[in-house]
Order: sequence, then structure tokens, then C-alpha cells
Amino acid sequence: MTLVTDLELPELDAIQDHVRGPVFDELMSSIVGYDGWLARSPLGFVTLDRESGEFFLRSRAVMFPSMTLAAVFNITEGPLYEEISKNLITRHGDDHRRLRGLVNPALAPRRADTYRPALRALLGEVMNSLPESGPIEFIADFAKPYTSRAIAYVLGAPDEDAPKLHYWSNLIQRQFDPMSLMDPEVLAEIEQGVVDCYAYIDALIATRRVEPGDNLISDLIGAEEAGDKLNQDELRNLIFSILLGGVDTSQSQLSHAIRLLAAHPDQWALLRERPHELAANVTDESLRYEPITPFTARVTSEEVEFRGITFPENTVIFVSSWHANRDGAQGGDKFDITLERDGKRLLTFGAGIHYCVGANLARAEIQEGLAFLAENVTSIKADGGAEFGTPSGIYGLDRLPLVLER
Ligand code: HEM
Repeated sequence: MTLVTDLELPELDAIQDHVRGPVFDELMSSIVGYDGWLARSPLGFVTLDRESGEFFLRSRAVMFPSMTLAAVFNITEGPLYEEISKNLITRHGDDHRRLRGLVNPALAPRRADTYRPALRALLGEVMNSLPESGPIEFIADFAKPYTSRAIAYVLGAPDEDAPKLHYWSNLIQRQFDPMSLMDPEVLAEIEQGVVDCYAYIDALIATRRVEPGDNLISDLIGAEEAGDKLNQDELRNLIFSILLGGVDTSQSQLSHAIRLLAAHPDQWALLRERPHELAANVTDESLRYEPITPFTARVTSEEVEFRGITFPENTVIFVSSWHANRDGAQGGDKFDITLERDGKRLLTFGAGIHYCVGANLARAEIQEGLAFLAENVTSIKADGGAEFGTPSGIYGLDRLPLVLER
């Protein structure tokens, strides 16, 4: 067996502030022709094909490195520490299985579909707040209000609280981003955000206990009361995990899809011809081609062997969904909404026990958003360059200036 640290590997350092947009694409593509499946990064190793990515995501000998990251940045007590250690992504074994068993029905495909009429109504309202035609900034004017109002609706929170939910989700999500944790001011802001968000969720649970409705918190309260399986602390942390994962993600993936369609007018024209038929293809093709989670990470909890290589305990492994999604017959480096691809083979939502619990809702939100835009907007054109975020956390867009014609 060869020790991974003894291998000669190409370097892939995507976690740098200037690595965004075209620079990121170039860096990621530069390694595509390399005849191997593993690269080195300053913090660990990066898997470059789908099979190796799935292997590490499904292995029982690895964990999501949230506690490792917390220790590195000296987060050893207090509200953020509590939140990290109780987040669904940090839990494992029987505990995690039980929690997923309770939350999965509330986000199952059929349940997610029941939110579609409400999503369409929200889209209509967001659209009505835009000018008839002309320049807009897609993130602030469309994607952000739509997806934050969507999660407020699904959770059963008041519509007017959507901006607050967006702020917390966006801020606290940065707990997974080493570049944000390096900044003490950002860290202090995240700590405060956790305190405020916990208080908000507790109050919302209390309201939904006396006024249940057709929403996710009421579903979870039902699961709790049905069998005394979920205590109050677990309930608030489950809701916290869902809120954290549920805003920036859909917003960013929808924005990338629209950016890609503006850059491929022929494909936008096709979507306009058959919006309901093609919205699912466009959603999956954007998830494949520009995953907002280009990397997720694992740390080995014991020695792991794979393809004749030994990964010692405490090795950090980044799984590149960007590369995995381009791998094999289902892959390729061309954005093409017409090809029949099997969305199940994407690594954008992860794999194994932590596979994204919100994947069905995210797909519903993005599909409805795309179909609605295709039905109501005749042309979408880029109006200057998009401003990209960094791929170290959720890989989104800071600004997407567009000219829309209705
Ligand atoms: C395009 C949108 C989304 C993408 C690409 C995405 C991606 C991911 C990925 C890659 C993971 C697994 C991370 C890992 O194993 O390291 C994950 C987990 C998770 N996601 Fe999403 N997500 C999206 C939307 C959502 C939404 C809408 C919600 C909530 C409604 C959500 C809630 C969660 C939660 C709670 C987990 C942790 C699951 C667990 O640990 O069992 N996500 N997501």
C-alpha cells in the first residue's frame, strides 16, 4: 500500500479569494486532462472522479469536518459551538438515522410538490414588483426575495420575516467556509446570528404549537408528538439545519441557471418553447455543470484504504462534484439542456447518509422559477459581467445584472 502523502500529485488550490468565475473554471478545467483521480490541496486531498467521490461520501470511516474546522478556529464553546455540534451534518450513526427518519417525510418528493402552487404565487408577486422591462439585478430583485419567501412559506414563518431568514442563513452558512472563519469580526457576527436565530426559531415553534398549519414546522411537531421521538432541543436544531441549508443554496443555483441560459440564447429559446417539459432538464443541467457545492469535505476517523492507497486517520478529503459531474458518459464539459442525463448520478447534492435532505424542495423551487420566467419573459440578456462569490462555501453570485423583456 502506498501512503497518500508519498504520492506525487498535481496541486488544486481553489480556496483563494481571487479564484472565482472564469479563473475558477480555468483552474478546475486545467486538471481535467490529468490522468489521475486525486489532487493535493493545501488542506488535504481532492477526489476528481465520481466513483472516488462517492466512495468517500459513503464511507463509514469518515465524518463531515465541521468539528475539525471548529477546533482549528478555536470555536470550543458558546452558541456557535452548540449549533455546529447539533447540526444534522455533524450528527452520525443511530442518532442521525433517527433524525433523518423524522425529517425525510416533511421534504419527500410528494410533500415538496405540494408547495409548488405557493411557489408559483410567490413568483407572480416577485415578478410584479419588477419593471415591465429593462435592467434588473437578478440576485437582489428576483432570486433572493423568491427563495427566502419560499423557505419562510415552507417553514410556516411570516412572509415579512423572509429578509431576516435570508440574513441568518447566509451569515451562519459561513461557519463551513474557512475563509470567513479567519476573520474575527465575521466570526463574532456569526455567533450573534446563532443566538438571535435560536430565539426566533423557539418563538416560531411555540406559535406553531398553538396554531398548526400546512408547513414543515407543523409536520415536525406532528412527528415529535406522534411518538415522543424528537425533543425540543432536537426540533429547534433540525429547523436550524434546514433554514441554514435552505436559502443561499436554491438562490445560488437558480441564479447560475439563469446566467447560463443568458449565455446560451438557443437553449433559452428551447426552454421558452417547452417550459414545463424542459424546466427539470435545465435544473439538473445547471446542478451538473455549475454545482453551487463544487466541493464538500470529509475527514477520516480511522485509516482508510482505497485503490491501493492508504489515507491515515485525520486526513481531509475534498470531494469535487465539479469534476465528478463531468466524469463518464453522463458528463462532459458542455452545458446542454437537451441531453438525457440521469440526475441521480450528480454529486451536487452529495451521496450517502448526508445526501441533501432539501434536494426535492430545491429542485421544485428552481424548476418552478425557470418555468415561470420562461413563460413570462421573452428575452434575457447579460447586462455587464456577473460578480461571482468564492467557491469555498456555497458558490453563488453576488450580482447578476440582466436586461429582461416581457
Ligand atoms: C441547489 C440547492 C442545494 C444544494 C446543491 C445542496 C447541497 C447539499 C449537499 C452537497 C449536502 C451534503 C453535504 C455533505 O455531505 O458534505 C447537503 C446537505 C444538506 N442540505 Fe442541501 N443543498 C441544496 C438545497 C437545500 C435546501 C433547499 C435545504 C432545506 C430545505 C437543504 C438542507 C440540507 C440539510 C439540512 C443538509 C444536511 C443533511 C444531513 O446531514 O443529513 N439543502 N446539501
